[in-house]
Amino acid sequence: MEDLLILDEDAFAEVFIPSKVLHRDEQIGELKRRFSPALENRSVENIFLTGTSGTGKTAIARHILENNFRGISAYVNCWKHRTTCEVLTEILLSLQIPVRGRESTGELAKLLERVIQKRKIIVCLDEVDRLNDFDLLYLLARNGCGLILISTRCHALSSLTPRIRSRLALTEVEFPVYNNEELYNIAKDRVDFALRPGILKDELLRIAAMSAQGDARTALEIVRKAGKKAEIRELTEISINELRDAITEATKFKTIQPLNRLNSHQKLLYQILERNRKMSSGLLYDEYQTVAQNPVVDRAYRNYMRKLVKLGLVKTEGNGRWKSYEIVS
Ligand SMILES: Nc1ncnc2c1ncn2[C@@H]1O[C@H](COP(=O)(O)OP(=O)(O)OP(=O)(O)O)[C@@H](O)[C@H]1O
Ligand SMILES: [Mg+2]
Repeated sequence: MEDLLILDEDAFAEVFIPSKVLHRDEQIGELKRRFSPALENRSVENIFLTGTSGTGKTAIARHILENNFRGISAYVNCWKHRTTCEVLTEILLSLQIPVRGRESTGELAKLLERVIQKRKIIVCLDEVDRLNDFDLLYLLARNGCGLILISTRCHALSSLTPRIRSRLALTEVEFPVYNNEELYNIAKDRVDFALRPGILKDELLRIAAMSAQGDARTALEIVRKAGKKAEIRELTEISINELRDAITEATKFKTIQPLNRLNSHQKLLYQILERNRKMSSGLLYDEYQTVAQNPVVDRAYRNYMRKLVKLGLVKTEGNGRWKSYEIVS
């Protein structure tokens, strides 16, 4: 069997928390400074992290919680957990408080209040604009939780009522896009960790970094895709050809025309599939229903998926209940 070029594909996954984060000393310093009183059970201020996609908001927040505030913090992605009940459950579970899953929202809030009375905690709500109900923010802040809220949209919280806004007293921390050199360093660090040594020439890595236009996720995705392609083609190293193809694919989400023509439901379906890569039709529809504002009925869903397939964005296999969808990459 051909030797694998990618030694650790998980290092490119969304859930991977890099042990080393680069070029974000200022933001890391700010977060540590603001939240360190929690370690002595003192009150902390709340923070709002904004910046465009792939600027390291999630990575830095998770890195800090994991390394500096483990045991007294919780990370929740509100794209996955949108209701107050789900978010409270996630927070309690992160704090190792058993939840049976049958408690009412009120009961969960009481449980959490009891925890917070004993010790200060830090809660990170990523993609916070996806929350169903912003009153949750008030509930957490009122009880003295330190909050890290994250969104790509700096106006994400503009619809907050003055009451919640003043209670939160958020300080905004901006994540600027990376420059080419910074992206190169970030990608290089991951490559050293995850790829077989010597299979990606430095000048190719520089091209990958440059093509990503400030977005670290795109830079890493280019490298991963190029590695995969070289593996499939049974090469011993990544050449400019794999890199070129990988760049085209990894940047298509930003530039591809068909995506601009999709409606919000189709975009959401595409995004869910992009995260999971391949899913059965049933599972995809289930996940879509939990995250969509006003999910469409099953028949419209199938029409939308047909359109994504027709546009060449998604592949399909099987029929009826065995039907599955896969992102084209
Ligand atoms: N400074 C950094 N050092 C190391 N890796 C980084 C850094 N910034 C980003 N990354 C990596 O780049 C990828 C994208 O970063 P991240 O998920 O944090 O972006 P984001 O700002 O949360 O984007 P989005 O708004 O789309 O969620 C992740 O794999 C992350 O580990
Ligand atoms: Mg993120």
